[in-house]
Amino acid sequence: MNDMAAARLPLFPLNTQIKDGRLHIGNFALDELAQEFGTPLYLYDRSTLDDALAQYRTALQTEYPAQSGLTYAGKAFLSIAMAQWVHQNGLFIDCTGAGEIMIAVAASVPRDQLLVHGVSKSQEDLQAAIAYAGILVVDHLGELERLIELVKTSNRQKFPTLWLRLRPGMAVETHSYTQTGQDDSKFGLSALEFLQALEEAQSAGLHVTGLHFHQGSHFHDPKPIASALELALDLIAETRQSLGWVPQTLCPGGGWGTPYHEDDLPHRPIREYVRFVAQHLLQGCHERNLPLPTLHLEPGRSLVARAGVAIYRVEAVKRTATRRWLLLDGGMADNPRPALYRARYTALPVSQPERPATDATWLAGPYCESGDVLIEALPMPDISPGELVAVPVSGAYQLSMSSNYNGARRPAVIWLQDETATLIRRRETLEDLYRRDLPLPN
Ligand SMILES: Cc1ncc(COP(=O)(O)O)c(C=O)c1O
Repeated sequence: MNDMAAARLPLFPLNTQIKDGRLHIGNFALDELAQEFGTPLYLYDRSTLDDALAQYRTALQTEYPAQSGLTYAGKAFLSIAMAQWVHQNGLFIDCTGAGEIMIAVAASVPRDQLLVHGVSKSQEDLQAAIAYAGILVVDHLGELERLIELVKTSNRQKFPTLWLRLRPGMAVETHSYTQTGQDDSKFGLSALEFLQALEEAQSAGLHVTGLHFHQGSHFHDPKPIASALELALDLIAETRQSLGWVPQTLCPGGGWGTPYHEDDLPHRPIREYVRFVAQHLLQGCHERNLPLPTLHLEPGRSLVARAGVAIYRVEAVKRTATRRWLLLDGGMADNPRPALYRARYTALPVSQPERPATDATWLAGPYCESGDVLIEALPMPDISPGELVAVPVSGAYQLSMSSNYNGARRPAVIWLQDETATLIRRRETLEDLYRRDLPLPN
């Protein structure tokens, strides 16, 4: 195998290999899938999802002696099938607002596995959370007050238990657009507000069971979690003293990063991140003589990113003064991450991926934005119009942030499991683009 293919294959789902000169995932030839389901095509490989989940579970069991749990952050990618996978595996599902709650409900996720987040929950979001969620994570005091009002006027017997989201005042190292823990972030409660929220919730008869924080997404060094844990545990020592309250659950969020490009390899494994968090939590509780809470992690990207692959067809090859362009049939409408965060991807041709690279290549979409470039300056072999290229690590924050820009129809999504490729989301049709529109009156 040549160096380019050998370096990029480990970014694809487990069991990705080159057979008969074509990229395969298990027994599925990617060109045959593209032929059957069209392009752009997104696929999720179940065995890769299972493997990432097993890494989290094993690490938690090995590293943390008390109880632990996992929530899948639905914002990374949510569909009925994905929610079913989450439910079947006994994870909680984190839903942001009524929309994601209703997807989980459509997948029959039960109340006790449904957790609701959101920095600015609308009345509709709060009502949906009251109706369907087991846990509601309170972001700010105004939200808590609205929630208390809703609970007072509701004739329901059962309400979600509450976790309070602390803003620890320090973020993890990542793109500034995905940092959430810093002092001036829009997310969460300051330590003082946390104390006030706890008192207000308790005097309204609401059950607060958790302390939550999340410092950002796609970080590779867990160090800032240690300082946030210190702050959180100091706060808990104080609430134990003043209110007799300690959380049953402590959730330091998600956010562990994922390698997207061969230059990101090797990447520190999930186990190291979990060990770091567990050790600091154990030590911090020991130092303050606090009981060990249930440790709950909330990953999105590191569970699903590698399981996903995007397959595009090359519509045209163009040469400009200094660049070779591959113009694909998808781009920023299905994957806005490069335009939003300058996220860096890699790719392989689906046929003859072992051809040696000849040139730095710019892979761009068909949309009317110069920022619609998926990959810049990637060494690639000569590619002809009509060929397919596969972009690995496409499972997180791509389709969930996709759009209909320039009339793009959002892609079909398939699920690979055992010997079957199942369509889990159909491609949008032309009619879907104007189905919600109404003409002006005459
Ligand atoms: C509250 C919360 N939890 C978990 C996550 C998941 O992050 P990631 O997908 O990077 O693991 C996010 C994403 O930003 C989040 O906002």
